[in-house]
Amino acid sequence: MSARMIDGKAFAAGLRARVAEHVAALAAEHGIVPGLAVVLVGEDPASAVYVRNKGVQTREAGMASFEHRLPADTPEAELLALIARLNADPAVHGILVQLPLPGRMDATRVITAIDPAKDVDGFHILNVGLLGTGQRAMVPCTPLGCLMMLRDHLGSLAGLNAVVVGRSNIVGKPMAQLLLGDSCTVTLAHSRTRDLPAVCRQADILVAAVGRAEMIRGDWVKPGATVIDVGINRVERDGKARLVGDVRFDEVSAVAGAITPVPGGVGPMTIACLLANTLSACCRAAGLPEPRGLTA
Ligand code: GUN
Repeated sequence: MSARMIDGKAFAAGLRARVAEHVAALAAEHGIVPGLAVVLVGEDPASAVYVRNKGVQTREAGMASFEHRLPADTPEAELLALIARLNADPAVHGILVQLPLPGRMDATRVITAIDPAKDVDGFHILNVGLLGTGQRAMVPCTPLGCLMMLRDHLGSLAGLNAVVVGRSNIVGKPMAQLLLGDSCTVTLAHSRTRDLPAVCRQADILVAAVGRAEMIRGDWVKPGATVIDVGINRVERDGKARLVGDVRFDEVSAVAGAITPVPGGVGPMTIACLLANTLSACCRAAGLPEPRGLTA
């Protein structure tokens, strides 16, 4: 192994501590407590774990956490009515509707119902458009966390070749926009890209967000590249359940200059960035300056 490990767990802990400091100052100086509402529809076990973790970390940062759990058969109109109440509630600065929603619900209609100023996921079409035109936006948490770690590791990203593998609305597309905003030359690759290994070998920054266990092999990576592995794939190895990324860690870590592990890389940054987005939304709502270094 030659690559430096990018310790997302430690980085996320530092970010959460900075958020908590700002939250304490907001309370002391202005009597304001940022509030995050998380809505879970149904009983998907993985989603329930995420929602519980979000609540715990929100409270640990000194913010107010509002959890709304609705049965899987809740009519969409009822969810939209809840979102309307949260939009109007001045104690709520951020709203997150946990995805995936039950199949019969229209996720786009639900996300579009969220006040864009409270859309701490950055999924509302207005925030997508603001990000795409280089304006101040709420930025999706996972790519924001990746950007923060890249800036911390590399300093300026200007002029670097960045290859993002995966074109999802949640990670791949906003990641490409953020890297472009930092003046990278960006390639957004995906499952239909021709000769994907050769495309990846051009990358100074390689972000893997395809959701396919260990797809990126050692000989796909330029020596010294910085590799960010967004994948969280559950696999069975030797009869045991394990988490692996989209990158074949043993091979790639022998070639790359730096790499995020799975687990303990990108994963912990997502909730930390959610807290940072909630704090930013709260400051904007109160007409106060946003803390520096917590947004793109
Ligand atoms: N499900 C998996 N990741 C996410 C996320 O970042 N936000 C929401 N709302 N749901 C998710």
